[in-house]
Amino acid sequence: MDLPSPDSQTPFIYLNNAATTWPKPPEVLQEVAQCLRMPIQEVGRTTSNESMDYPSAAREALTGFFHVDPANYFIFTQNATDALNILIHGFVKKTNSPFHAITTELEHNSVLRPLHTLKQDGMITLSVVPFSNNTVTLSAIKNAIRPDTRLVVMTHGSNVLGSVQDIKTIAKYLHANDIFFIVDGAQTAGQIPINLSDILVDAFVFTGHKALYGIPGIGGFYLRDPNAIAVTRQGGTGTNSRSLTQPFDMPMRFETGTHNYPGIASLYAGIQFINTVNLDKIGRKGKELTQYFVRELNRKSGITLYNDAPNLPVVSFNINGIENDEVGFILSRAYQIITRTGLHCAPLVHDRIDGGKGCIRASFSWFNTLDECRIATGAIREVAENAHRQVRAD
Ligand SMILES: Cc1ncc(COP(=O)(O)O)c(C=O)c1O
Repeated sequence: MDLPSPDSQTPFIYLNNAATTWPKPPEVLQEVAQCLRMPIQEVGRTTSNESMDYPSAAREALTGFFHVDPANYFIFTQNATDALNILIHGFVKKTNSPFHAITTELEHNSVLRPLHTLKQDGMITLSVVPFSNNTVTLSAIKNAIRPDTRLVVMTHGSNVLGSVQDIKTIAKYLHANDIFFIVDGAQTAGQIPINLSDILVDAFVFTGHKALYGIPGIGGFYLRDPNAIAVTRQGGTGTNSRSLTQPFDMPMRFETGTHNYPGIASLYAGIQFINTVNLDKIGRKGKELTQYFVRELNRKSGITLYNDAPNLPVVSFNINGIENDEVGFILSRAYQIITRTGLHCAPLVHDRIDGGKGCIRASFSWFNTLDECRIATGAIREVAENAHRQVRAD
């Protein structure tokens, strides 16, 4: 079967990798095709001697990638949003009496909306900690802690500012103070090394379709103590079928219904791909492209950059005098450059950086090139130049 190669010329430049990576590595597409070609095999559910047990293989790959055991404490979900919902609602159900929770201004709506819903329902009180210099520090979190604080949910990497939070230091403090810590690693998994043996988070959420190079529809979480979270979904697991209640064993306790086998195969192959290329090398390339992009945009007046030195390959900016969605439209129609515009599902970040109007985001993957960044920054500078000529003419 002929599969498109990431090296083949495309008629556009794709700079929306923080939303979902494109292209997917050929190895990932091959594995998905292979998974769909053969009958499913999964220990405890279904057998097919010729096929690979993708859930077990992917769990083992996750164990190695995040440096933490046991494999069956990695739970598959639809995406990071699904994982965050299971964890947040599961923690509230387990706690079973109102408490105080903390989150941050950097969050994606997949954290903000479940927490605000619980607040509206009177299940929690909520503090939202501000960021400064694009990051949230331990001292900012400490300032918000009250005697009834039981939960902190925060992002590891901001999808708008590309800043990485010091979750190791924060986790150590929260662990010592018996406060449950859920980290949203949607933007960091696959971008930077993450050693969960060394970082005492209680739960770490990842998604498959971003920097782990899987396909949409697969994500998951690692849960250090399965008993800390109540089960909020029940159904078939292929095991213990006589029992009318959810099995207690992991991972079946939190995984119910038929798995997304092609998605799990893509996650498995995505991790293999990263290991083969080398995570540090991927990180270095991301940094090189990002630094180039920032430098080139800084050369032109009339462009407001919101993150001069991001840790992740994400650059957010506005062109003064034009709406961000118009810039995105011009870049796409006139230059065939795909970026992301608007609020990026992180409304509180925008309230702080751009008056809540939103911005343009360029984000890179392993498959972007310096040449693409040269073309894109040239196009952005040209749009800015035309806008300012227009303003002067008016
Ligand atoms: C920081 C952050 N958290 C959560 C999500 C949600 O990820 P998913 O699409 O896997 O639900 C995103 C995706 O945009 C994100 O950037």
